[in-house]
Amino acid sequence: MSQPELDTLQPVELDAGLVFSGQPSGRMIHGFASPCAYTPEPDPDYLFHDAMREIVVWFMSRPEPLYVFGPTGSGKTSLVRQLAARLNYPVLEVTGHARMEFADLVGHCSLEEGRMTFQYGPLALAMRHGGLFLLDELDLLEPATLSGLNGILDGNPLCIPENGGELIRPHPLFRFVATANTNGGSDETGLYQGALRQNLAFMDRFWLCEVGYPAPEAEEGLLAKAAPALPAALRAAMVAYAGEVRRLFLGSGDTSTPLGETIEVTFSTRTLLRWASLTLRYRPMAHQGVQPVCFALDRALGFRATRETRAMLHELAQRMFPTVDDPPREQTTMDA
Ligand SMILES: Nc1ncnc2c1ncn2[C@@H]1O[C@H](COP(=O)(O)OP(=O)(O)O)[C@@H](O)[C@H]1O
Ligand SMILES: [Mg+2]
Repeated sequence: MSQPELDTLQPVELDAGLVFSGQPSGRMIHGFASPCAYTPEPDPDYLFHDAMREIVVWFMSRPEPLYVFGPTGSGKTSLVRQLAARLNYPVLEVTGHARMEFADLVGHCSLEEGRMTFQYGPLALAMRHGGLFLLDELDLLEPATLSGLNGILDGNPLCIPENGGELIRPHPLFRFVATANTNGGSDETGLYQGALRQNLAFMDRFWLCEVGYPAPEAEEGLLAKAAPALPAALRAAMVAYAGEVRRLFLGSGDTSTPLGETIEVTFSTRTLLRWASLTLRYRPMAHQGVQPVCFALDRALGFRATRETRAMLHELAQRMFPTVDDPPREQTTMDA
C-alpha cells in the first residue's frame, strides 16, 4: 500500500512554549513541519487538561510507550489527538476489541490486481514513517494478543514474516500511546464491560498517565463555548450537578451528599456537553409544559440509568435547578 502522504513527512524541532502557549520557552520538542492527511484537525475550542503538561513532558522525553487511563468521556483520546495536532504528528489509530488480532495492527496480505501484496497496518506505518500509533481502549484486547507487542514496546524492530521477513526499525519520531478506562489491573467498578485484566509484564513497559474529569472551572469554560446561549448560572449549576453525580457514582461519594446513595451511571464531559446542547434545543418548549433541563437530562443520561437512579437524578435536579432555567418569553419556536 503506497502512503505518499507519510513519505513526505519532515521531522523538525519546535519550540514547545510557542506551540502550546504562544510564548517562546527555548525548550525544543520534536514534531513535523506540516500536517498530513493523518494529522488530526486542531480544535481551537479544545480545553487542555492538567494531564496535558504530563503528556508534553512525555513527548519531550525518550520514546517510551504511554498508557493513558481514566473514566469514559474524560477526554483521553481527544487530548492525545489535540496534542498531536499541535505538533503535526500523524495519528494512526485503532480501537481495541476482543477479537482484534496482531495482523490488524501490523498488516496483512491481500489480493490486488491479481497479485498478493502486503497492506501495512497502522502500527507498521507509524514505525516506518514516524508518527503516533494510538491504540484506543487497549484493555478490551486479549492479554495474549498484546503480549506480541512486548518487543516493540521495548524499542525493538518489527519483523513481518508475512512480508518476507521484512524488518521495520522504529523511526525516531515513532510514538506509542494506549488509552483505556482501567489501569490494566482490573475494573473496580464492574461497569466497563469487556475490560480485561492485563499481563503484568506487558503493563510494566508503560509510562502511565491518569486523566480525570476536568476541574469545574474548566468544564464551565467548555460549556460557555459549547452553549453560550445558556445563562452562566445555569451552566455553573449543570457542572455542579455533574460533579454531584460523579460523587454518587458507585459509592465513591460520602454519605453527606444530598441523597446519600450510590448510582451506576456517571457524568462524562461528553454527556455534559450533550446535556447542554439538548437543553438549548428544548428551551423553546418550556411554555408547553416541558422542563428543558430535566427533559434534556433524561435524553443525555437518565434513560441509560435504572428506574430508581433516574428518580434520584430527577430529585437531585429539582433540588439544584429550582428557577435558573426560565427561558426568555419571546423564544417560542424550536431551534433548527
Ligand atoms: N478538554 C476538552 N475540551 C473539549 N472537549 C472535550 C474535552 N474533554 C472531552 N471533550 C468532549 O468529550 C468528548 C469525549 O472525549 P474523548 O476524548 O473521546 O473521551 P475518552 O477518550 O476519555 O472517552 C470529545 O469528543 C469532546 O467533545
Ligand atoms: Mg477514548
